[in-house]
Amino acid sequence: MKGGIRYHPEVDLDEVNALAQLMTWKTAVADIPYGGAKGGIGCVPKELSLSELERLTRVFTQKIHDLIGINTDVPAPDMGTNAQTMAWILDEYSKFHGYSPAVVTGKPIDLGGSLGRDAATGRGALFATEALLNEHGKSIAGQRFVIQGFGNVGSWAAKLIHEQGGKVVAVSDITGAIKNEKGIDIESLFKHVKETRGVKGFHDAHPIDANSILVEDCDVLIPAALGGVINKDNANEIKAKYIIEAANHPTDPDADEILSKKGVTILPDIYANSGGVTVSYFEWVQNIQGFMWDEKKVNDELKTYMTRGFKDVKEMCKTHNCDLRMGAFTLGVNRVARATVLRGWEA
Ligand SMILES: NC(=O)c1ccc[n+]([C@@H]2O[C@H](COP(=O)([O-])OP(=O)(O)OC[C@H]3O[C@@H](n4cnc5c(N)ncnc54)[C@H](O)[C@@H]3O)[C@@H](O)[C@H]2O)c1
Repeated sequence: MKGGIRYHPEVDLDEVNALAQLMTWKTAVADIPYGGAKGGIGCVPKELSLSELERLTRVFTQKIHDLIGINTDVPAPDMGTNAQTMAWILDEYSKFHGYSPAVVTGKPIDLGGSLGRDAATGRGALFATEALLNEHGKSIAGQRFVIQGFGNVGSWAAKLIHEQGGKVVAVSDITGAIKNEKGIDIESLFKHVKETRGVKGFHDAHPIDANSILVEDCDVLIPAALGGVINKDNANEIKAKYIIEAANHPTDPDADEILSKKGVTILPDIYANSGGVTVSYFEWVQNIQGFMWDEKKVNDELKTYMTRGFKDVKEMCKTHNCDLRMGAFTLGVNRVARATVLRGWEA
């Protein structure tokens, strides 16, 4: 099984269950050999010192070391956890079971992490966007993009889109939102964010109302921050023709219906942001092989998986005459159902 470990004050059993289920369908759509899992600790990680975080993680690992394992459950980072957390889990687990780098993914490179993992979700979203646009006779170059969130996923997506000739016209993060209709210079924005810890105040763009970012004029909208941000209050105002769900469940069911009537095409999260878990799978494979792939191989394999995933989802849409979200869920559920029947588990 595969899924992230979340440190967040609102984590509870229901949320972890729902996220684990989502991982089941996501790994099935990506066609990687895992079921879904998730874990969490209710805490405020920002209020804990590094040494408190380490002790919390080590004690947690002492409690779950018999539940996780390279062939049973392979955790990864999620909200509030990172490569360092995975390093502590690996170290604590190894005290009980011997050195086992494949027990977690999203590790530091020096401990067996994969090259390309950091960029993987953003790069996967780029490949997913490319596949969708190509199908509509378009390419990244020449399209205007708006991106909500400039963290791991949003900033990598922006950088790669910019490199491919796409025009990123507006970006937001927790500090504010900025716009430049001629296209934001993403490299300069990276420098600004490194220095100031946010997009606010970037010299080569003007500030806009952070609440308007999702309804700015563009061809492609990429929500890459929070869940539930596209809802009945703003769906009617959305101008994008395509929405790429890089965040987890950014669109609520009411908005889905409104956008579908408006003819907006939505690439669903369980496919669009599966680049991260796919490269996590590559990391696990490399650890088991005891062989490190170069970054080009990681990126090429990711492209193969994302392109094939799009084809598989489209095939489902054709067979069942449904939209991409229903196509992706049908694909995931069908794959799990088929494996269940083949193993003789059907009722
Ligand atoms: N990192 C991954 O590999 C991965 C994989 C799959 C899905 N996701 C999903 O992608 C989304 C982003 O994850 P991430 O890893 O980039 O997180 P992150 O913490 O690195 O970045 C989050 C970004 O969102 C911004 N943000 C927070 N509140 C905001 C607000 N109210 N308005 C605008 N921006 C706001 C933050 O400032 C930050 O730039 C989440 O929904 C996550 O579940 C991430």
